[in-house]
Amino acid sequence: MRLSAKRSAILEQWKTRLQDPVELKELRSQLWLINMGNMRRVYSLGDGFVLKLPRNQDKSCTPEGRRANQREWTAWLALSRKRPRCSMLTRVYACAPDGSWLIAEKVEENRLAGGTFDKRLRRFMMAFTRYYGDMLLDGKCSWWCLDLGYNNFGVRDGRLVILDLEYVGGYLKSAFLV
Ligand SMILES: Nc1ncnc2c1ncn2[C@@H]1O[C@H](COP(=O)(O)OP(=O)(O)O)[C@@H](O)[C@H]1O
Ligand SMILES: [Mg+2]
Repeated sequence: MRLSAKRSAILEQWKTRLQDPVELKELRSQLWLINMGNMRRVYSLGDGFVLKLPRNQDKSCTPEGRRANQREWTAWLALSRKRPRCSMLTRVYACAPDGSWLIAEKVEENRLAGGTFDKRLRRFMMAFTRYYGDMLLDGKCSWWCLDLGYNNFGVRDGRLVILDLEYVGGYLKSAFLV
């Protein structure tokens, strides 16, 4: 789905700001932290956008968080190219080449929507496999091995979406892109 002209302009402004390392550091204390994952802190940018920053950015130089952003971006590009109309994933709008930030669509958190690891999730993953299975299978692993914690899912218009594409990206990399 296309961004409106207004939201495209807002996105461009954020991209410019985030390129400045000083701004990027300051933003960490100014923005509202939605939640923290294993690799990343996720902040609200308003206007339906979230910002994902590596958790370890200002500590040692362990690169997992940045790699998670890069994998999410790679996964998004590959999956959305294959199924441009598919609405099972949060949209990713931009990512720094070095993975130091990523901007994605904000969705409702599954845990806030009373998310459970249930039949609904199972049905979702069956459909996901029908759509993308050939991109995920590498002969040894399939989505059954993936990280299906309910906090990696969100809700858009009452329907589940995957909001952490990082692990999908990991599998794509091993199964499809390399
Ligand atoms: N697009 C999003 N919209 C709303 N909340 C999000 C979004 N992406 C992530 N979150 C929140 O941030 C948490 C961590 O994000 P996630 O992408 O899973 O990071 P990690 O890769 O570090 O696990 C999620 O469990 C969720 O609560
Ligand atoms: Mg996660």
